[in-house]
Amino acid sequence: MNSIAQQLKTRFEKAFTSAFGESYADTDLMLAPANNPKFGDFQCNAAMSLGKKLGKPPRAIASTIVENLDIADICETPEIAGPGFINLKLKPAYLEAQISALAKPSKRIATDTRLGISPTQTPQRIAIDFSSPNIAKEMHVGHLRSTIIGDAIARTLEFQGHDVIRINHIGDWGTQFGMLIAYLREVHPEALTTADALDLGDLVAFYRQAKQRFDADETFKETARQEVVKLQAGAEDTRRAWKLLCDQSRREFQVIYDLLDIKLTERGESFYNPLLPAVVADLTNLGLLVESDGAKCVFVDGFTNKEGEPLPLIVQKTDGGYNYATTDLAAVRYRIEEDGAKRLIYVTDSGQANHFAQVFAVARKAGWIPEDVEIVHIPFGLVLGEDGKRLKTRSGEAVRLQDLLDEAIVRTRKDLERRLEDEKRHETEEFIANVAHVVGLSAVKYADLSQNRASNYTFSYDKMLALQGNTAPYMLYAYVRVQGIRRKGEIDFDNLDADAKVILESDAALVLAKHLLQFNEVVNAVGGDLLPNRICQYLFELSQKFNQFFEQCPVLKAEEPLRTSRLILCDLTARTLKLGLELLGIQVLERM
Ligand code: ARG
Repeated sequence: MNSIAQQLKTRFEKAFTSAFGESYADTDLMLAPANNPKFGDFQCNAAMSLGKKLGKPPRAIASTIVENLDIADICETPEIAGPGFINLKLKPAYLEAQISALAKPSKRIATDTRLGISPTQTPQRIAIDFSSPNIAKEMHVGHLRSTIIGDAIARTLEFQGHDVIRINHIGDWGTQFGMLIAYLREVHPEALTTADALDLGDLVAFYRQAKQRFDADETFKETARQEVVKLQAGAEDTRRAWKLLCDQSRREFQVIYDLLDIKLTERGESFYNPLLPAVVADLTNLGLLVESDGAKCVFVDGFTNKEGEPLPLIVQKTDGGYNYATTDLAAVRYRIEEDGAKRLIYVTDSGQANHFAQVFAVARKAGWIPEDVEIVHIPFGLVLGEDGKRLKTRSGEAVRLQDLLDEAIVRTRKDLERRLEDEKRHETEEFIANVAHVVGLSAVKYADLSQNRASNYTFSYDKMLALQGNTAPYMLYAYVRVQGIRRKGEIDFDNLDADAKVILESDAALVLAKHLLQFNEVVNAVGGDLLPNRICQYLFELSQKFNQFFEQCPVLKAEEPLRTSRLILCDLTARTLKLGLELLGIQVLERM
């Protein structure tokens, strides 16, 4: 089904052709939802720029457009306002037909969960790099943001019908492993030969100690270097030690992924190790490599350091080692050449914006990014505590993700138990545990996603768990409300009268219907600009509009045909909430 905006667009294109000729068919319509409902539902602002182009007063242009516009089945007579805005007000009869059409497929195909949104005509292979924590280090809140945002973007693109590769570019390679292995050989050798000898907490502590030792002790430094060489050369015992350390961390990452229901394909930095010499060799052959203080560098225009001097991208260090950037260059090539990705997306904090800009610029200069490939970094802001500083534990340490998620569940449970007591409800332990789990984790995800990702975000349990406002519990409640209607009225939503008429007799119903019909646009917008907060904002407004409708329009007590018509609106609201939340990685509940 075409969205309202698309339908309007088609009509306008026809009008432009008949008013000004073929070449005007694809004029930018500047068609947008009206800012103020007073002016109607949509506004076309093309007359102003067209007036300039044609040397005619914009109001006259607007009149010509309106005269040629065949739109009476969709809108009331368009009004021309101000310098030449064309205001459009949708007809209730049109909206009723649209809602009927949207509701119908569910009756014929019970499995229609797409709400009339067809998959894209131009599916692409898309590589999205997100989460990407580092071995032997705790996964921190930055990784949590990357995981949540990346997953929501991946789900949206998958829903659109794209072929998405979800890549976990974990930090599992580099000189730090030499250091760690050398240290463990000394203090805890069994950790390098036995699985499960350490947990991630120990590993992180050893890592810290190893680093101190590395910085202070020249002999140790040399031993660590030799371990790196052995690792690179594939020496068996070093390899095995490395693998054990990786497995250890991996298991702990998996706990978080399972909790959050995140699917990822691991392709860590080590994966690209064999491809690094070719990156440097090819850059050399292209004449792009410059030696600077013994390091091999590429200079690209537009990158300077604090002193304003050209800033190189180092691809091979003085000691011959490769680095983070070399790996990312190899990864760009692999994703384009081997994976065949046409869109490459990287989700990390904005602190890495320069790194990615420079890597992309070098890859482009080397000719590794074909015209038809899009490559973007999706930056996000910091996670702040309620004191406005970087989120820390009370003792000033980094917050462990598992603790943070567990705490959300515990707090939800407390709130829930208090509420059950107030309402004198008795529920099973299974019910309570499940609601606490789903609501707690949804709240964490939603709080993060509802912000524009570019801004810093303040982590507050109280805010994210509130039953009012732009929060997961508020959205989940709206869904639960509809399920309550279903149970109370013993309604089978899949089998509502297929020929029932939708009647939008009240303002609340009209407002809700218009909003329901915009979901399509929102999903497609997120597929383009990768801003999942648009979906949150949409769902928030949907819940508000639904709640208003619900307060003003009795459903089960209404007479037919209004009753069924209102049930259809309830059902569509619930299905839209469910699908929208699913795209955000949030599960709905039937009761809470
Ligand atoms: N491991 C990195 C970190 O923790 C993030 C990796 C992001 N992806 C990439 N292709 N560089 O900061």
